[in-house]
Amino acid sequence: MSSDGAKDIAVIILAAGLGTRMKSDTAKVLHPLLGKPMIVHVLKAAGVGAKKTILVLGHQADRVKEAARDFPVQVVLQERQLGTGHAVLQAEKALEGFTGDVVILSGDVPLIRDATVHGLIDRHRRGKGVLTMMTAVIADPAGYGRVIKDAAGNLLRVVEHKDASAEEKGVREINTGIYCIDAGFLFSNLKTLKNDNAQGEYYLPDLIAAAVEKGLGAGVAAVGDVDEVMGINNRVELAHAEKLLRARTNEYWMREGVTFMAPDNTYVDDDVILGRDVVLYPGCMIQGRTVIGDGCTIGPWARIVDSRIGDNVKVLDGSVIEESAVDDGCFVGPLAHLRPSAVLGKGVHVGNFVEIKKSEIGDGSKANHLSYIGDSIVGKRVNVGAGTITCNYDGVKKHQTIIEDDVFVGSDTQLVAPVRVGRGAVVAAGTTVTRDVPAESLAVSRVRQENREGWTAKRRAKGGEKD
Ligand code: UD1
Ligand code: CA
Repeated sequence: MSSDGAKDIAVIILAAGLGTRMKSDTAKVLHPLLGKPMIVHVLKAAGVGAKKTILVLGHQADRVKEAARDFPVQVVLQERQLGTGHAVLQAEKALEGFTGDVVILSGDVPLIRDATVHGLIDRHRRGKGVLTMMTAVIADPAGYGRVIKDAAGNLLRVVEHKDASAEEKGVREINTGIYCIDAGFLFSNLKTLKNDNAQGEYYLPDLIAAAVEKGLGAGVAAVGDVDEVMGINNRVELAHAEKLLRARTNEYWMREGVTFMAPDNTYVDDDVILGRDVVLYPGCMIQGRTVIGDGCTIGPWARIVDSRIGDNVKVLDGSVIEESAVDDGCFVGPLAHLRPSAVLGKGVHVGNFVEIKKSEIGDGSKANHLSYIGDSIVGKRVNVGAGTITCNYDGVKKHQTIIEDDVFVGSDTQLVAPVRVGRGAVVAAGTTVTRDVPAESLAVSRVRQENREGWTAKRRAKGGEKD
């Protein structure tokens, strides 16, 4: 018993199957939805204060276990997938001595919300029976188990699609595969299930007929939002679930003060955090554990992965930012690429076709056009001219470039690392910097220009060029 006198809750999540209909080498529950394995969405919904959460695994158990590492679950193995009833039975030992109610969830029904699971538990407690099944009335029930009731509307049993008669197939109330069941009833009756059905499997829903026959009481809890209980068995359903989840996430952020110019074409992963007055243009993808501050604008077709963006940053069209940090007031793009460990200070400008990798750029510095900055430390208020390249790789090793505060780097400069340009220095356009530049000095390395006057006229006279 818990402190409020209610029975304890245990959760069992069924996820042993491969998911044959996915036609994949990856177990079904590992397929991502909003950037996270399907099973993680179920684990989140399973956070209903359970005493114990058991994950029943089989196919690719190690990988699924790894995907569930952030959740306090106990894993049990179902060596052979002999059906959902058999799967639940594998949790018997792990729940030895447990006398409360068991909530059963399916690893392939990931849109379920924790509030809905709470609702099921409440409904079960208010009823007097040993079993409450969550059901839904849907337009196209093909593939699901149908809920069979008598003329008075009393629950009788569930018949699987493959075992259903033509008349039964016409029933639109389906079993969602989500239940709340008294532990004592559950484990004593699972062993009596038979597999004399179309699939030769031990069906968990056969417990409903068992409870009804024994007069122990079985009831249904109808789900409000049928989208929550869609099962994913193939990639068409996977794409549909992704779309529904995306709409849910995007709507959440809109209500939190984010503008989506085209919500259907904007992809925000589950773990992303967005600030107030962020504006997301069509096609942008915000992925992984990205955090975006207040007042940012993310332009069309930009992609930001596992990055931290400060306040009032503008990321323009087609830019890619990966595992990087961008401080307040920066401009990035269009078509800029921040590769892992790019760290931009406040008000930095990184423009067209600029690539930055593993480099710190100090406050107020600018690299607006066509540059590569790698393995570098760039100070404050530095101007990096168009076409500047840090030559960080000598074919064997990577080397560091240091550009101190207030340096002006002219266009088309190469900085052959390791090299340091001292504070306030100026590097003339077209220079190849191979030695350190002292502070406050000018570095130039280019061939002096020669002008040969009258040269083209002479060439014409020789007949070298026709007018
Ligand atoms: C199941 C229900 C069906 C319900 C539907 C809802 C049964 C027999 N049928 O059908 O009434 O309408 O869900 O989505 O339960 N699993 C195991 N071990 C097994 C078999 C399955 O762990 O031996 C797991 C699967 O990995 C999956 C879940 O149980 O996560 C459901 O199995 P699945 O084969 O998809 O059942 P459905 O045919 O969808
Ligand atoms: Ca299923």
